[in-house]
Amino acid sequence: MYDSLKKSEQPTIPKHIAIIMDGNGRWAKRQGKLRTFGHKAGVGSLRETIETCATYGIEVLTVFAFSSENWHRPTKEVDVLMSLFMATLKSQAKRLHKNNIRLRVIGDRSKFSNNLQSKIKEVEFLTSENTGLLLMIAANYGGQWDMQQAAEKMLKKSVIDGVSVSEFELRDFLSTAGTPDPDLFIRTGGEKRISNFLLWQLAYSELYFTDTLWPDFNKEALDLAIMSFSTRQRRFGQTGEQVNEGV
Ligand code: IPE
Ligand code: IPE
Ligand code: MG
Repeated sequence: MYDSLKKSEQPTIPKHIAIIMDGNGRWAKRQGKLRTFGHKAGVGSLRETIETCATYGIEVLTVFAFSSENWHRPTKEVDVLMSLFMATLKSQAKRLHKNNIRLRVIGDRSKFSNNLQSKIKEVEFLTSENTGLLLMIAANYGGQWDMQQAAEKMLKKSVIDGVSVSEFELRDFLSTAGTPDPDLFIRTGGEKRISNFLLWQLAYSELYFTDTLWPDFNKEALDLAIMSFSTRQRRFGQTGEQVNEGV
């Protein structure tokens, strides 16, 4: 990435990047095309982003592909999004596997067609032993749903084990269990909101908003976000002095 930079100028690479891939519809509309044209173009940006993250040695990439609220869109658009998800899983499975990438889909998948559910399972299984980038695709995902299902699971376990819920940590029941919280959150498309993405997990993420529409997002745009992340001082409640002294 930063081949042209001196060693001392190399950016800090986040362990976990979470992205709201927004702006596909507007990108298409600007060209007088149907919104769905933008979704198709967005797949290319996703591919480039995945491969760049894998090359940079990023551990986890979580992308918001379809929110629990996106069902409220016109049926035709929802249908295209579902077909696109299926087609992309089919066409990219081998490539993901070849690149040592592990896929995990987070969200309530029970609303998807049986075919799509089996395809998701199949690609997750195919890539389950891979040791490179963990790609988490948030599909029919909502941050509120995630906390709700986590609380239910935690309560159930406490009853089964006969111990108090306070023995458990909610984070271990979230759909992202086992992964570090995102260091860097990116939202393309200009809006400055979370839109029910990872509500719990974003507690201490560095937030980065760009007007770039998702289909225009590429390696250079990702580099800018990482550069911005690199300039931030993460204090986690401490003072700047404490952080500098490494207390
Ligand atoms: C993001 O792009 C993709 C999904 C939500 C599935 P949008 O479709 O929201 O694009 P805009 O925000 O309308 O431009
Ligand atoms: C968030 O984008 C969801 C995804 C990118 C999948 P939206 O376009 O649905 O968000 P709002 O409705 O503008 O908040
Ligand atoms: Mg949008």
